Amino acid sequence: MPSLLGLALPLLGSLVVLVAPGKVPERAGIVGGQQAPRNKWPWQVSLRMQHIYWVHFCGGSLIHPQWVLTAAHCLGPGIQEPTGLRVQLREQNLYYEDQLRPVNRIIVHPSYYTAQDGADIALLELQEPANLSSHVQVINLPPRSETFPPGTPCWVTGWGDINDDISLPPPFPLKQVKVPIVENSQCDAMYHMDISTGDNVQIVKDSMMCAGTVKKDSCQGDSGGPLTCRMNGTWLQAGVVSWGEGCAHPNRPGIYTRVTSFLDWIHQYVPKEL
Ligand code: ARG
Repeated sequence: MPSLLGLALPLLGSLVVLVAPGKVPERAGIVGGQQAPRNKWPWQVSLRMQHIYWVHFCGGSLIHPQWVLTAAHCLGPGIQEPTGLRVQLREQNLYYEDQLRPVNRIIVHPSYYTAQDGADIALLELQEPANLSSHVQVINLPPRSETFPPGTPCWVTGWGDINDDISLPPPFPLKQVKVPIVENSQCDAMYHMDISTGDNVQIVKDSMMCAGTVKKDSCQGDSGGPLTCRMNGTWLQAGVVSWGEGCAHPNRPGIYTRVTSFLDWIHQYVPKEL
């Protein structure tokens, strides 16, 4: 599994650096934001691969007791064996209370090639359905018609880097940040600033969505995790952390896979009822 290992080695390297004394960054965040309260984001999961230990490499979300939604670039595009993969359900501090769960099947979207091309979405079937509790819950998928316009209150969560190339320091608490939705055409215009790509080339595809600012963003290691929005009192998963140019850079909001574009594909596998 070359792509998994390629991700693991730099991750492990930065963990080792962070444990060294005197160098622990103080900045809280995913980028910006703060530590998540224990009772929030009960659908957040951590994907682990076997290395020296079961190291975190991506986020994900529980959308059914037996199914996790994540990003295709965490797993593909090549075929991956589920044997080297585990899922950790909601945990406050990464690695502190691990109960790793094996996976039956990895299903990468058939149209996925790179995150920038789109269809950066994948499903994992757990071997056993999870017991739902006060701190482990599923996140609802949005109705097809939901566009999540600018102004929608949305949050992104994860154990990823707290800035470009700066890992989350121990004890690796789950982080949350409220990110403003950036409308697709505006986001596409922003991504065309300071580059030579022609305006006629669409960078932000319709099956993507954007959120974030120069102070608030997701970053490496948050990929596959959920962008969730509170709509009329219920939480819905709007996006999957996919890509961005750096983290929290000017005119470069975070780019997410737009969940409403993939509902039919998801429901080919995931039952609608619990
Ligand atoms: N591709 C990254 C990962 O694998 C996520 C990047 C998100 N970037 C951003 N600026 N929001 O973890």
